[in-house]
Amino acid sequence: MKFKKNILCIGAGYVGGPTMAVIAAKCPDLKVNVVDVNAERIQAWNSDRLPIFEPGLLDVVREARGRNLSFSTDIAAGIREADIIFVSVNTPTKTFGHGAGMASDLQYWEKTAYEIVAHSDRAKIIVEKSTLPVRTAEAMERILQENKKGLRFEVVSNPEFLAEGTAVKDLLEPDRVLIGSRQTEEGRKAAEEIVGIFARWVPGDRIITTNLWSAELSKLVANAFLAQRISSINSISALCEKTGADVSEISYAVGSDRRIGPRFLSASIGFGGSCFKKDILNLVYIARSYGLAEVADYWQAVIRMNEYQQDRFVQTIIREMFHTVVGKKIALLGFAFKADTGDTRESPGIYVARKLLEERAILAISDPQALDNARRDLAGLAGEVDYAADPYRAADGAQALAVITEWRDFQALDYEKVFASMRKPAFVFDGRNILDHRRLFEIGFNVYPLGKPSLTHFA
Ligand code: UDX
Ligand code: ADP
Repeated sequence: MKFKKNILCIGAGYVGGPTMAVIAAKCPDLKVNVVDVNAERIQAWNSDRLPIFEPGLLDVVREARGRNLSFSTDIAAGIREADIIFVSVNTPTKTFGHGAGMASDLQYWEKTAYEIVAHSDRAKIIVEKSTLPVRTAEAMERILQENKKGLRFEVVSNPEFLAEGTAVKDLLEPDRVLIGSRQTEEGRKAAEEIVGIFARWVPGDRIITTNLWSAELSKLVANAFLAQRISSINSISALCEKTGADVSEISYAVGSDRRIGPRFLSASIGFGGSCFKKDILNLVYIARSYGLAEVADYWQAVIRMNEYQQDRFVQTIIREMFHTVVGKKIALLGFAFKADTGDTRESPGIYVARKLLEERAILAISDPQALDNARRDLAGLAGEVDYAADPYRAADGAQALAVITEWRDFQALDYEKVFASMRKPAFVFDGRNILDHRRLFEIGFNVYPLGKPSLTHFA
């Protein structure tokens, strides 16, 4: 079959894989090829054991794979064939040199740009999908235009707003699709091509076109605003614990104001995930590099509050367990950075586990999807950690349960049975406020919710 256009995506990760699967499913007349340097990942995409856990994804992949969706490691051939190239490689925070811990590490992006130049023999549209600092498109354009073949590449920014765990739904029914381009004739034409792809299933009024820098910056700002809401409510949870107010009641009361809205107001042990912290750090770095110290400090505080919240959770555990956890078994319920994903990047679970191990607690970690990642995250740390798929095994002989991730599975446990198997006095620290605290208290637990009065049997 002859396809209308060849689309390539470089980088088969959390963003590239699902996005391309949905494009292929929705546009059978486009050929979609996804390439990656990681052969193991590609092999997984070609199997029924996909490399990432996302509800509904396997169905979408199966619909298109073999028809107009392929996964391969042949990057050069992929580039040669492509009319449009989405770049979706990782852009982690730099761990070295200038801007370490703040700026994005652009080495993968840059390498990709050189590869595109090396293997292209005609003009192509390059679509930035990876979250990138503002004005990266400009830098990339320079690399791409500096080719001796006289080829012109138009760079378009199409930041991804999907959230993990709901990736397929977010892609099928996005609040908006954002496409930024140069405001030249060629730039607008390139943007129109990309609009044409999404317009197959996204209503026109949800496709926003902007200039390049606005698109790049909007992505950082959207994530910064979402993270800011979480830090705001988390800061209030600390105050609630001191005053006897209930943070859930406050979230409800405040979120009922339609100007504020109810979402992203759940107090937690802190936000994780690959985007929020990285994007805010990026924003902070950019603001600082333009001499805007007040702007940088303002956003930096969102991260500071998130670190404070994670630490507060650990300090509560230690304080309430009589100021020592040495030799005590603590079961961590969950390790993923949120429910419905196996991803543990920046998960507060990592911080909590590390701190408790430093305090010489014994850990048992249970998570329906994230145990392999948890093992990798904690590899090399001194101390004893049991990874237990079965939460009852994790709780057996433990003195405390600490809820890290809001998996529904944890709400459905038989807590009478759990209590019976634990050492006494038994504690629950609910870092997500998902359990029935009164009932747990009645069973005999000493219960420490987040931002609510504790329920204890101590005199
Ligand atoms: C986020 C953005 O939502 C998405 O638009 C962007 O493309 C990528 O970053 P993601 O990181 O997948 O998506 O997860 P999200 O659902 O936003 O949750 C981020 C973190 O915030 C999680 O750790 C979650 O548990 C936490 N969170 C979320 C809270 O602590 N409280 C809330 O009320 C909501
Ligand atoms: P994201 O969450 O942004 O999708 P991931 O880390 O999940 O990030 O995925 C990025 C993918 O990009 C990884 O699978 C990585 O192997 C791949 N990658 C990085 N550099 C290159 C490159 N030069 N060519 C092809 N793939 C690359």
